[in-house]
Amino acid sequence: MSKPLIAVILGSKSDLPVAEDALRIFEDFNISYEFRVLSAHRTPDAVRAFVQAFEGNGGRVFIAVAGAAAHLAGVVASHTLLPVIGVPVPSSALFGLDALLSTVQMPGGIPVATMAIGKAGMKNAVYFALQILAIENTTLKKALIRFRKEMAKKVLVDGETVKKSLERKRDPSS
Ligand code: RP5
Repeated sequence: MSKPLIAVILGSKSDLPVAEDALRIFEDFNISYEFRVLSAHRTPDAVRAFVQAFEGNGGRVFIAVAGAAAHLAGVVASHTLLPVIGVPVPSSALFGLDALLSTVQMPGGIPVATMAIGKAGMKNAVYFALQILAIENTTLKKALIRFRKEMAKKVLVDGETVKKSLERKRDPSS
């Protein structure tokens, strides 16, 4: 298998429940990724070493997933020119609002593309990373177009199902 172009870093193993489902999306699209648990606070040297090595080996995108006073995405971004996608985790007493603000409110000059709090944000981080790779990967781009078409189809089918069920409730003889 080719070298992973996307790296996913979790600030703690306790963040895994937020990330786990979305990581399967990589398999759906047949894209490999590098995975690490590294903390901006607890293992700052290891974060720097990993970010520099991943970029040096031809990696393209980072996804940094962290909660509480979440500095991980910003710290990763400080060590690389590659795009960094941040996912705030609702792991504290503030339900992720702290992580959202810590991740999104980067001072000008060191950008972090911040997603929504929690599982939806993690899903979008994965799709966003795939879309970045798809700029130069036609096969992946086609797969993402197919995925969006299927998603749209499902919404319309769901709508019809709900409509019919409401009609049946209003008029059981129909
Ligand atoms: C952050 O602090 C982690 O990303 C996690 O969301 C939160 C709590 O970490 P643990 O104390 O559970 O390791 O750095």
